[in-house]
Amino acid sequence: MTTYTRAAEAQRKPLHPAQGEAPDMEALVRLATLAASSHNTQPWRFVLVPDGIRILPDLDRRCPVVDPDDAHLWRSLGCAAENIVLGATLQGLSAQLQVSGKAVLVALSPAADMVPDRLARVIPERQSCKAPYDGQPLSEQDLQTLGAAGRVAGARAALVTDVPQRHAIADLVAEGNLIQLSDPAFRSELIGWMRFSDREAIATGDGLAGRVLGMPSVPRWLGRMLVGLALSGSRQAGTDRRLLGTSSTIAGIVAVGDGPEAWVAAGRASQRLQLQATALGIASAFLNQPIEVASLRPRLESLLGLAPGESAQLLLRLGRGPRRPHSLRRRLEEVIQPL
Ligand SMILES: Cc1cc2nc3c(=O)[nH]c(=O)nc-3n(C[C@H](O)[C@H](O)[C@H](O)COP(=O)(O)O)c2cc1C
Repeated sequence: MTTYTRAAEAQRKPLHPAQGEAPDMEALVRLATLAASSHNTQPWRFVLVPDGIRILPDLDRRCPVVDPDDAHLWRSLGCAAENIVLGATLQGLSAQLQVSGKAVLVALSPAADMVPDRLARVIPERQSCKAPYDGQPLSEQDLQTLGAAGRVAGARAALVTDVPQRHAIADLVAEGNLIQLSDPAFRSELIGWMRFSDREAIATGDGLAGRVLGMPSVPRWLGRMLVGLALSGSRQAGTDRRLLGTSSTIAGIVAVGDGPEAWVAAGRASQRLQLQATALGIASAFLNQPIEVASLRPRLESLLGLAPGESAQLLLRLGRGPRRPHSLRRRLEEVIQPL
């Protein structure tokens, strides 16, 4: 087993429900850190407060080019918050969320009749799998289960299986790639979050590890040079079109309104969708170009058929696919902030 795999496995130890023990807040933070985050920036800090866990945005981890309004940052906080909400059920705790423009408070209180949520058990196994899938349709029952899981107050997953509609969405992803990758600032920000060698990924515990992207482990100088030469809008557009062609379902995460509350709700819904997919043995990955490029978003929204007042927040593809190595996380000491 490689050092990278050992590090990833150590971070993803299975969960055991607490039995009559005092609530373990650090265990809940560990689960929160296993959530998805944009570019694996993990833009969060956790403060253990008497009534629960406060999640603060870590503004040093912003991505001002791809995410100028911090929407992805807040969606990432929503993903982390949902893991706490679910993990709390394993400890007999019920959770209430309060979102302000400054923080997300997950208030926790004992609930005698709490049933452990089945989605909590797969938190350590969830991953965004950027590999090709098998192209086979998902069953009606799986689609229904996914749709039901990807719903929280204020956000829902809109599932698209229709082929012409999926092709139209793939066109938007391709257009997004051409626009984003022709921008030197976008390229530089993306490459800045890439971790080209195992050593680099383990040292930082964050970012997009080569191993996860299916690339060999190489020194940073070489990785920068190779990716700098290979990364082009048209090449990425072709790759994403092929990947979408292997994914029989696309999910648009849509929310009521647009702002920190909607962003957090969207993150929660996407996390639940990915967890439910994991529980069903279904792979999932994000492709958010048509949301990140503001000029494409209205076209995506009309393809998703939104209700009045709803906005498109995130885009994922789903299907049966392989497992990839897990991405790494920072240590708890780095993300827990004293009260
Ligand atoms: C708000 C948000 C936006 C994301 N955008 C993208 C994206 O556009 N493309 C992509 O490949 N992955 C995207 N991701 C997935 C992250 O790269 C992934 O969550 C991170 O690398 C950690 O890996 P994991 O989900 O396997 O734990 C996004 C995740 C979140 C939460």
